[in-house]
Amino acid sequence: MHHTSMSRRRFLQTTSAAAVWLPTSVRGYSANEVQALFVDGEMQQDISKWELDTPALCVDLDALEGNIAKMQNTTALNGIASRPHAKTHKTPVIAQMQMDTGSVGICVAKVSEAEAMFQNGIDKILLTTTNVTATKIRRAMKLREVCGDFIQATDSPDNARLLSEAAISMNIIADVVVDVDPGGNRTGITPGQPALQLAQLVDQLPGLRLRGLLCYDGGSQHVKGFDQRRSQTLSRLNAASETYDLFNNSGLTTEIFSGGGTGTYNIDHETRGLTDIQVGSYVFMDAQYIDIGGESNNEIYSDFQPALTILTTVLNDQYEGRATTDAGAKACTINRPWSRIKGETGISYSSGSDEFGTIRYESDASRTYKVGDTVELIVSHCDPVVNLYNQMYAIRNDKVEAVWQISARGMSA
Ligand SMILES: Cc1ncc(COP(=O)(O)O)c(C=O)c1O
Repeated sequence: MHHTSMSRRRFLQTTSAAAVWLPTSVRGYSANEVQALFVDGEMQQDISKWELDTPALCVDLDALEGNIAKMQNTTALNGIASRPHAKTHKTPVIAQMQMDTGSVGICVAKVSEAEAMFQNGIDKILLTTTNVTATKIRRAMKLREVCGDFIQATDSPDNARLLSEAAISMNIIADVVVDVDPGGNRTGITPGQPALQLAQLVDQLPGLRLRGLLCYDGGSQHVKGFDQRRSQTLSRLNAASETYDLFNNSGLTTEIFSGGGTGTYNIDHETRGLTDIQVGSYVFMDAQYIDIGGESNNEIYSDFQPALTILTTVLNDQYEGRATTDAGAKACTINRPWSRIKGETGISYSSGSDEFGTIRYESDASRTYKVGDTVELIVSHCDPVVNLYNQMYAIRNDKVEAVWQISARGMSA
C-alpha cells in the first residue's frame, strides 16, 4: 500500500514552481534518495530503474526467484541438498531467500564474510577456505563460540593442530570438514590416504569435531558442452567418492560431503556420497556462464536467467562507430568475456578503462545510442562485480521494489 497517492513528479507538477525545489531532471536518483523513499519498508513512490543514478547494480526479482526455485526443484528431484555459496551475492537478504526455500545452509569464502552473514541473521555457515593465520583462526573460533552451526575447512595436519589448539584455548569444540583437492592443486589435501589420515587426526584432536569432507571441482564448472562437463567432473570427483568410502570404512562421519557448482548442479548427484551442492552463480548468472551450454541447449546455458545487470549512462556519442559510457573497470571489472548489452546484437561493450565503458557498433548494429541514454549490461562475472557495489536495487517489472545492502561487500579478509 502506498502512503501517498501522488507521485513526487505529480506533486511537483501540481504545485507552484516558485514554492518548491525543482530538480533539473527527474532522472538520476541516488541510492540515498531511493532509500529515503522507503517508510516502514514501504516504497512511497514508483521509481523506474531507468531513473536511477548510474552506474547502478540491479537484480531482477522475477529472474532471481525463478533461479532459486529452479535450483530447489532440481536438487529435490535429484535427492540432494543445496548449500549455496554466498560469496557470489554477499547479500544477507538473498541468503535468507535461499534458506527460506530449503537450502541446508550457506557457504562463505572468507571469515569476514561469515561474520557479516551471521551479524545479519544467517546462522548456518560453512567456511570453504582453510584459515592459516593466527588472526583468522581466532576470528573463526570467536564466531564458532556464538554460532553453533558454523563449520570450517582444513586441508593439512599442521593446520588441524592449530585449529584444535585455538579451540581448546577458547574452551570450545570446533566443527571441521576436510577439504579434498579435485585435481587442480589449488587448495585441499590429496584424496585417498592423505585425506583419510587428516580426517582421523581431526577426529582425534580434542578441540575439533569431524563433520565430513568437501571437494569443489572449480576446473569443471565452465567446461563447454554438457556431455564434456559431465564426464570431466564425474571422473575428477571419483577420487573424492573413494575418499568418502575410506572415511565410511574407518567409521568416520560423512554427514557432509559438499561440492559442485552452477555448471554441474544437475550432474553432481551422480557423484557417490555427495550430500549438497555449493552453487553460487546460478542466482545471478553472467556472461561467463551463458556461453557454456546446457543439457537442453548446447549453445546457451539457459537453465537460469540472467538476473544481475548494470545500468550505465552514455556520456559521449560524437565519434563514429562508438559511444562512451560511465561504467568502466570500476563498475564492471575487466573479466572476460566482457559485459553484454542486454537484448542487443551487433553491439559490443568493453570496460578496459577505469572510469569509461566503450560501446562499439558492428555492421549489423540495430541502433545507436545518444548522450544521456541508459544502457543495461549483463555482467561479465557476477562475484567480483557484486563486490564493487554497496547496494543493489531489487527490480520487478522495471520498478524498484527494494534496496538491498551488500553487507559482505569488500569482506575479502
Ligand atoms: C569452494 C567453492 N564452492 C562453490 C563455488 C560456487 O561456484 P559457482 O559460482 O560455479 O556455482 C565456488 C566458486 O568459485 C567455490 O570457490
